[in-house]
Amino acid sequence: VKNIAVLTSGGDAPGMNAAIRAVVRACSYYDVKCFGIYKGYEGLINNEVEVLNARSVRNVINKGGTFLKSARSKEFRTVEGRKKAYDNLVKNSIDALVVIGGDGSFTGALKLSEEYNFPVVGIPGTIDNDINGTDYTIGYDTALNTVVEAIDKIRDTASSHNRLFLIEVMGRDAGDIALNAGIGAGAEEILIPEEDMGVERLIESLRKSKKTGKTSSIIVVAEGDKSGKNIFELGEYVEENLNDYEVRVSVLGHIQRGGPPSCYDRVLASKLGVGAVEALLDGKSEVMIGIVHKVVTIVPLKIALDKRPHKHDGLIKVADITSV
Ligand code: F6P
Repeated sequence: VKNIAVLTSGGDAPGMNAAIRAVVRACSYYDVKCFGIYKGYEGLINNEVEVLNARSVRNVINKGGTFLKSARSKEFRTVEGRKKAYDNLVKNSIDALVVIGGDGSFTGALKLSEEYNFPVVGIPGTIDNDINGTDYTIGYDTALNTVVEAIDKIRDTASSHNRLFLIEVMGRDAGDIALNAGIGAGAEEILIPEEDMGVERLIESLRKSKKTGKTSSIIVVAEGDKSGKNIFELGEYVEENLNDYEVRVSVLGHIQRGGPPSCYDRVLASKLGVGAVEALLDGKSEVMIGIVHKVVTIVPLKIALDKRPHKHDGLIKVADITSV
């Protein structure tokens, strides 16, 4: 492998820049030419490719977002789109690709590799932490800290007005952000996609808490929760059925995706970026570089894409116990 390209794809995540930087610098260290591809697979299809050297990635480790930009490419999902992308890889003499992104990005990488026998390595970059085979994805830790900081602020006003707040956090399929930030911010209840708590049980539990002397409450709701109601409908439902609290709804939204990466995410991104280049130089392909029990680990992309529901290792119980 002499020429490695790197792209970021799907939803951006804090720490993606640190990962790109690590890939570029590892290439420089191992004397490999490095190319940056702009706007994910979309940019590859349109040949938006540029040579990057060690100095091209100065002053980016501390920046949120991705300077390579990101996109969700519809065209790359087609055989024709992938053909154009492959032709541009050949045109630029690129012989291996590092894809920083989530499951959609890995699915694309796998297709490209299967169709053209092209070496690909994935780095998990998404705030959702919903990739199998790695304990953490890049951006997740930063997003958790952002969410906790936001909930802390909401708690001040919730408590001043004796109000109940429903706070929506990201996580279409995974409750990792909701559960961990919820525990960290002392939420009363946490609704996640992996478990259907049932709205009746929610009301019951809030009634009980009120009886024990609680005067305000925070409920953290993952966007993919199983209540069957959107957060505003859920807010109205709770207000009507509890008949005790004034309810307010707060959707944190894309604030969770921005901001300077935490130290943890910068270090994780650096480890995984170096690991990705080393894996390619070692002849590996169709793998993701993950972190398992603090050790950089090579995981087949097919396993990374496995949609097994996340286990939350007793966290649900911890949340229940600490919110009595
Ligand atoms: O990056 C993943 C994610 O944050 C999901 O939790 C969320 O549903 C989605 O991105 C929203 O992304 P976008 O607004 O870019 O479509």
